[in-house]
Amino acid sequence: MIDRLRALGAAARQALEEAQSESEVEEARIAFLGRKSELNRISRGLGTLSDGERREVGRAVNQLKSDLKGLLEEAKSRVASGTGGAGGLDVTLPGRRPWVGRKHPLTRTLDRLEEIFLGLGFEVAVGPHIEDDFHNFEALNFPADHPARDEHDTFYVEGGGLLRTHTSPVQIRVMQTRKPPIRIVAPGRVFRNETPDASHGSEFFQLEGLYVDRDVRFGELKGVLIKFLRELYGENVGVRLRPGFFPFTEPSAEVDVECRICRGRGCGVCKGTGWVELLGSGMVDPRVFAAVGYDPDEVSGYAFGLGIDRIAMMMTGVDDIRLFLENDLRFLRQI
Ligand code: PHE
Repeated sequence: MIDRLRALGAAARQALEEAQSESEVEEARIAFLGRKSELNRISRGLGTLSDGERREVGRAVNQLKSDLKGLLEEAKSRVASGTGGAGGLDVTLPGRRPWVGRKHPLTRTLDRLEEIFLGLGFEVAVGPHIEDDFHNFEALNFPADHPARDEHDTFYVEGGGLLRTHTSPVQIRVMQTRKPPIRIVAPGRVFRNETPDASHGSEFFQLEGLYVDRDVRFGELKGVLIKFLRELYGENVGVRLRPGFFPFTEPSAEVDVECRICRGRGCGVCKGTGWVELLGSGMVDPRVFAAVGYDPDEVSGYAFGLGIDRIAMMMTGVDDIRLFLENDLRFLRQI
């Protein structure tokens, strides 16, 4: 009987050590410790043995049961943690590095622009993406039939709203709620009904600037923009102002910088001219002041608007504006 128990013990130990899954461990438990197991049968038959035999066999039975329960627990935790055997956890493999996130290139560009303008005494203001005709056009001196609206075709929403075509409506909103002096920059997303190509998207980003006070001169506009561009591109950057037209500024100027890619020699990005147009600007038109209830004889000011995407392209060397909004991580991780 004792020999039989020893043999059972050896067989049970082997079965439990070789078990590879929870179900194999369970099979071994049923076979060696279950109700119909030989061990259970011996244990139930102890009463039929003589006193001396019962004590000896009984002790061996109890010892074996407790040994097997220990082995059973070990086998259970081994298959649960997956150690040992094929497909298990290999603790010697190098760990996976956590991903480190970073700011989107457009956000980084905007952060830099805001930093410069905050240093020049401007505050940041924001306005809604869905505008009305008054703020996006009328108050900015684009009457309903004005040809300048052709360049600002956009997307209309039910109820008369439209997706703003520039950040200039923020000028109107700020002037409607505050008295001069005002010195703000207003960054944000703008929308136009464009056929997308490498330098046009139907969504892009602008940064508006507005300064209103008494006796503001064109020379101050020029001084602030040159200061800004030197901060952004270095003291030696070439800057030029060309006459331009915007309904809400008079006189108006377009501002170009020397191409950052070819340093003014002429390349594909500047279309061979050596210059890249970065800003629209001008002195606020008296009709705009009238539209917000300011007295044009009392106040004067300047405004400017720049394309954030275009500056980001020059800062990063990216040559297709559409890449910025696709949010493809394979692209974003490179810049
Ligand atoms: N809002 C103009 C545009 O989108 C840019 C601009 C802003 C021009 C402010 C002059 C002054 O084309």
